[in-house]
Amino acid sequence: MCGIVGYVGPNNTLEILIAGLKRLEYRGYDSAGIAIIDDANTLHSEKRAGKLVNLVTALEQHPLPAGSTGIAHTRWATHGGPTDTNAHPHYGDYGKLALIHNGIIENFAELKEELLARGHTFSSETDTEVAAVLLGDEFAACHDLPTALRNVVKRLEGAFTILAVHQDQPGVVVGARRNSPLVIGVGEGENFLASDVAAFVAHTRHALAIGQDQVVVITDTSIEVTDFDGNTVEPVEFDVPWDAKAAEKGGWSSFMAKEISEQPDAIANTLRGRIKDGRVMLGELGTIDDEYLAGINRIIVVACGTASYASQVAKYAIERWTRIPVEVELSHEFRYRDPVLTPETLVVAVSQSGETMDTLMAIHYALENGTKVLAVCNTQGATIARESHGVIYTHAGPEVAVASTKAFVAQVAALYLLGLHLAAVRGSLPDDEIAKTLTELQAMPEKVTEVLASTESIPQLAHWMADTRSVLFLGRHVGYPVALEGALKLKELAYIHAEGFAAGELKHGPIALIEPGQPVFVIVPSPRNPQNLHAKVVSNIQEIRARGARVLAIAEIGDTAVLPFADEVIPIPLAPTLLQPLLAVVPLQVFAMELSQAKGLDVDQPRNLAKSVTVE
Ligand code: M6R
Repeated sequence: MCGIVGYVGPNNTLEILIAGLKRLEYRGYDSAGIAIIDDANTLHSEKRAGKLVNLVTALEQHPLPAGSTGIAHTRWATHGGPTDTNAHPHYGDYGKLALIHNGIIENFAELKEELLARGHTFSSETDTEVAAVLLGDEFAACHDLPTALRNVVKRLEGAFTILAVHQDQPGVVVGARRNSPLVIGVGEGENFLASDVAAFVAHTRHALAIGQDQVVVITDTSIEVTDFDGNTVEPVEFDVPWDAKAAEKGGWSSFMAKEISEQPDAIANTLRGRIKDGRVMLGELGTIDDEYLAGINRIIVVACGTASYASQVAKYAIERWTRIPVEVELSHEFRYRDPVLTPETLVVAVSQSGETMDTLMAIHYALENGTKVLAVCNTQGATIARESHGVIYTHAGPEVAVASTKAFVAQVAALYLLGLHLAAVRGSLPDDEIAKTLTELQAMPEKVTEVLASTESIPQLAHWMADTRSVLFLGRHVGYPVALEGALKLKELAYIHAEGFAAGELKHGPIALIEPGQPVFVIVPSPRNPQNLHAKVVSNIQEIRARGARVLAIAEIGDTAVLPFADEVIPIPLAPTLLQPLLAVVPLQVFAMELSQAKGLDVDQPRNLAKSVTVE
């Protein structure tokens, strides 16, 4: 939610900041803006509503100086609509100071009253402008930007990352964070600040993570981090495990197309180095050691969106393998319902970005209640990973498209490793069964590759369905969360009403939605499923067919029983029931992407959304 980047150094600041914004645009794309201090120590700024391209076009017509100090912002609107005026930066100290912000300043109304009473006027409807004006006043009083920022952030409530520059203190970018991401890129003779390493990874892969309630000051040759009271703190160093190329489209039509194709690697890389002699080896569990895991009696998984559907898939597997009850809860519901937590409850927080505010707040709640928290996270050094007792990183590589794809399969793989590790620690599954399941898991990347190679009918299908107004998704057992995920993909990418149902629930109400021609995707369990789920789902298909539904079945290769009842069958390779979601989800992702394209929509940046939801 909002991407921010700052730079101090000898290179072309304008170009570096715009390139940084391009890499951060997935975080928000309602408006964009930039502020640069030129060599004569004058602040220049430009900002535009709409996507980054509008700002770039404006800069082509009225170029800013290259400069050597600057900040830039791409916005996902919270307070005030996406207009030129509400775009960041906002200004203080009579236009000598520029400030950008990610988050929400909850007490902005009361601070604004105070500033209005002092005679200030405001041009925007944003909470951010209040911080800019306040910082301007503080600077005018102390003439030191870091001191002024520390004084200001102590007065702010809510969540924020702030960056600011002042023309009277050139060569300096200051930043502060509370519950919102900010990382430092350490260069040679240049330094960077950004919401995400993607902004600077083309220049340096060496980074520092800034902790909660800390202020950072960068110049071209120095980095200083303090708490809000000015006490020096040591930031945590890390190296970005991927290069700039990994976050580029590389010839694909969209980031989403590229990321869908990367799913075999996302699974393989998440498993790599973690399976040895038929056992799981997890190295980053911290204090969540075997002794602790042997004593837990409940797992609560907190997550949002796609991460929550991946967690729902894993619930089936972890309960089956460990006999530990697993609840999957939307992070934003968790802490408000007074959940029962005991020292024997393990909270698992699943997040691709590692910055989702709802999930972070759920973690804080769990920690405050003395519960251990394990993160499953895709972003090295992210807040959720750092604030948890232990972490299992998914190694899916950077996910740029707003619609999550490869993160889903990587999360399922990581949670399955956790489940099998727990099963070994607790002796709930024979060793040979653990080893066999791990081998089956290791075979999944190849099977996902097969699915990717057999989606050729989907573009045509999507093309035919471009005017469809509603699509339903049915699944049973692990196919149910896959149905939910398929519906989410279609909603966010094609803006079509889409709903996922448990197939068994159909006759309890949703079947009333079926009318002639209604498209329904059905995730069909394997005919080899020992619980005979296959026959039950085939019966469900017949029930909807009898009412005119158009059935699009995702079924195992060789499943002839489903053929007479489906209008279209998308084949997937044979896999054990618990692993089938890793395959069945792929055609649904491809379908949503193709339908979005068929409707001429922006696949990577769907309307109203942002990749990383850093506000509650
Ligand atoms: O970064 P996270 O995994 O915590 O993000 C969670 C959701 O915001 C995310 O999965 C969202 O639902 C995606 N847009 C779905 O495609």
